[in-house]
Amino acid sequence: MASVAIIGGAGYVGLTYAAMLAHRGHQVWGLDVDEAKTAMLSSGQCSIYEPGLEELMRQGLASGRLRFTTSYADAIPDADFVFLCVGTPADQNGRANLQYLACASESLARCLQGHTIVVNKSTVPIGSVNFVERLLERWAPAGTTHAVVSNPEFLREGSAVSDLLNPDRIVLGGTDADALQRVADLYEPLSVPIVATDPRSAELIKYAANAFLATKISFINEIALICERFGADVATVATGIGLDHRIGAAFLNPGIGFGGSCFPKDVRALASMALDAGHESMLLNAVLEINQQMRGLVLDKLEMALDGLSNRTIAVLGLSFKPETDDIREAPSVDLIDGLVAAGARVRLTDPAALRHVANRWCGVDLINDPYAAAMGADALVLVTEWDQYTRLDLNRLANSMRGRVLVDGRRVFTPAAAREAGFHYFGIGHPSGPLLIAEPSYFSSYLSMAAD
Ligand code: UGA
Repeated sequence: MASVAIIGGAGYVGLTYAAMLAHRGHQVWGLDVDEAKTAMLSSGQCSIYEPGLEELMRQGLASGRLRFTTSYADAIPDADFVFLCVGTPADQNGRANLQYLACASESLARCLQGHTIVVNKSTVPIGSVNFVERLLERWAPAGTTHAVVSNPEFLREGSAVSDLLNPDRIVLGGTDADALQRVADLYEPLSVPIVATDPRSAELIKYAANAFLATKISFINEIALICERFGADVATVATGIGLDHRIGAAFLNPGIGFGGSCFPKDVRALASMALDAGHESMLLNAVLEINQQMRGLVLDKLEMALDGLSNRTIAVLGLSFKPETDDIREAPSVDLIDGLVAAGARVRLTDPAALRHVANRWCGVDLINDPYAAAMGADALVLVTEWDQYTRLDLNRLANSMRGRVLVDGRRVFTPAAAREAGFHYFGIGHPSGPLLIAEPSYFSSYLSMAAD
């Protein structure tokens, strides 16, 4: 069994890997500069909302295999492997800020002893294996040796633990074959395909995977907009194309668009890296533009349905960027609420996990735990995050407590028939009842007029 230090061990990716590697029998230090978080984690309290993680972490603590510290001197000297799981936030141009990566590399280098394998786990720009290697060479004590391996993660928030225990593949990038093998061995007894390659290809696999998934979402959202013009139903179109195994059904759910700490940031970063390298990515730019357009679309639907938003009361179901997480980074709800507040609407916001993150963020937004209480007296209801409990709401009860009857379904969760039966005016995305419906496409008209003559 190996000794592993995880830098950024209180963060989302670091903590999940720390708990998983301890679960697999390794001796793990979760190292983080945040004292409050490490103290909390040491006492068995999970600092993030992630199903199954607290239990896994507590098992690790109880077994003595998982410990947390803020000190590099505690965690690094004995480590066979050091995982770099620090944040790489983006600047205004979409470029990753590498300050945390550089700082962690220097701090770990100064504590190295013997031979250590450093694993780049964070989503870091192409070329980062080489960047970290150079920093280690600069700061590591004489006589120590190291290898750096790119080993990107593919976890989804909300299902991180099961994604980690059942990955589709493991990607490893590096030039030291022994180091690649030793990192692969850490994941034993997983039997999944391993893609072992050069560092830059491994780093690009991570960006390309997220960019492709984001492209699928923007693609189906573009089709949703076209469906609205023609009175077609995008959900059925998605089913129809998704059954083609070359396309696949996953990530074809239309709606208000993607958010979170990964897709928007990584697509922007890839486009920006490509531009730096002399290639302007028209596709990635379009993916981002369509995503932004979807947020505006929901606001437009509400405005049109209510004949203006000023002094209207809107109940918003869902704040987190997706269900089963309390993460609100780049959440579509935040843009929507900003738009509603700017237009003079009052907002009654509900979410099962994330409300604590917006306690003082807006004026004119009431935070309400219970969705039925949030809907009470509202002119319109808009669903932004498809939390499971929202899919099971009693639509009759909601409708009867509201002043108006508008329901904008930003995730296509409710069936239009059920919504209408409850008395709602239903507005879905990519739904046949769209207001922009074209009764007779113009390209038929000359033939039809000829036929009529
Ligand atoms: C994403 C990837 O799915 C992970 O593989 C990757 O490891 C992770 O980013 C990362 O880079 O760390 P995550 O951001 O947690 O994971 O969430 P997803 O489940 O991928 O959803 C992202 C966004 O896309 C959400 O806002 C979701 O509502 C939206 N989405 C997803 C759609 O609008 N339609 C879909 O069909 C699927």
